Amino acid sequence: MQYRPLGQSGIEASIVGLGTWAISGWMWGGTEETASIQAIQASIDEGINLIDTAPAYGLGLAEEIVGKAIAGRRQKVILATKCGLVWHTTRGQYHMEEGGKAVYRFLGADSIRYELEQSLRRLSTDHIDLYQVHWQEATTPIEETLGALLDLKREGKIRAVGMGNMTVEQLAAYNRVGPLDTDQEEYSMINRDQEAALLPYCRANNIAMIAYSPLAQGLLTGKIGTDRQFSGDDLRRTYSRFDRTHREKVASMLALFEPITRSHRITLAQLTLAWTTAQRGVTHALVSARNAQQARENARAADVVLSQEELNFMEDVIRLHAVGIPHLW
Ligand SMILES: NC(=O)c1ccc[n+]([C@@H]2O[C@H](COP(=O)([O-])OP(=O)(O)OC[C@H]3O[C@@H](n4cnc5c(N)ncnc54)[C@H](OP(=O)(O)O)[C@@H]3O)[C@@H](O)[C@H]2O)c1
Repeated sequence: MQYRPLGQSGIEASIVGLGTWAISGWMWGGTEETASIQAIQASIDEGINLIDTAPAYGLGLAEEIVGKAIAGRRQKVILATKCGLVWHTTRGQYHMEEGGKAVYRFLGADSIRYELEQSLRRLSTDHIDLYQVHWQEATTPIEETLGALLDLKREGKIRAVGMGNMTVEQLAAYNRVGPLDTDQEEYSMINRDQEAALLPYCRANNIAMIAYSPLAQGLLTGKIGTDRQFSGDDLRRTYSRFDRTHREKVASMLALFEPITRSHRITLAQLTLAWTTAQRGVTHALVSARNAQQARENARAADVVLSQEELNFMEDVIRLHAVGIPHLW
């Protein structure tokens, strides 16, 4: 496992982190608690220390599952969670409906304090290593939001401050008020938008860039063929990224990587993750795993080192083939 700094925080986090959106079941067609706990524990056993969750993942369910899984292992974990998607108030901006509750984007200081206490309780811990803004909202001054986060840092309740789903202008506005350690954005072979401005900004300002959905919800593993069906509220059932044409297009691109996976004896999921963390400015890749087998496979991607020649070849292929596939949001 390789580790890289989370910005200026002094924290070293595994370059492959475990994300826990899928294990909340919400928008993923449900979850299975035992398999989820096994996925988290297998990740830790493989050397993953970065575990990312959020209150919004299953209205607290993912945090509760993480809390159970890390009991007795807390000191091995860089625990990351988020604030700003709330269902205890109707202040801020309406975001979406989840589990019969209206979820709002809200980043007021009192609400952040309330959210943090709820997360600490669900995660059975006394501090969060990386506390991140989940989504920006327009009703609270950024000085108030960042002021609240920096107060929590001074109090020892959080160790590092991160942002997420930001424009580069929003990120810079926060960073002018106080130092940021991380930013979390969608980034993968099929969504490289952040290379234009946000990645260079993060590099120049010593902000770790945590790439989320690096497997494009599994599409870039080569394991989602045209016959795979999704059930329940799994977003992949109706989501145009998973249309037959997009699946076929991605499959024909991934087929071109076969000589590389063969020579390294790795899977396509591992190649995709190794490619992601090899991109300039991308410091960490955050990937969901549904079970221990996926978790182990993904963790071992952190040991794969691609040559410059292989990266150049992949660059040519991706530029030609990975275009026109819808982004997550
Ligand atoms: N800040 C934000 O707004 C935001 C948004 C999205 C995600 N994230 C974070 O990023 C994390 C990862 O993103 P994501 O869940 O959207 O997508 P992802 O990591 O690109 O895809 C994960 C899915 O791919 C499949 N998979 C994982 N490993 C696999 C393997 N080795 N072989 C085959 N299939 C595999 C699993 O689904 P199946 O087994 O069901 O196919 C899994 O749920 C999230 O958990 C969350 O922590 C943050």
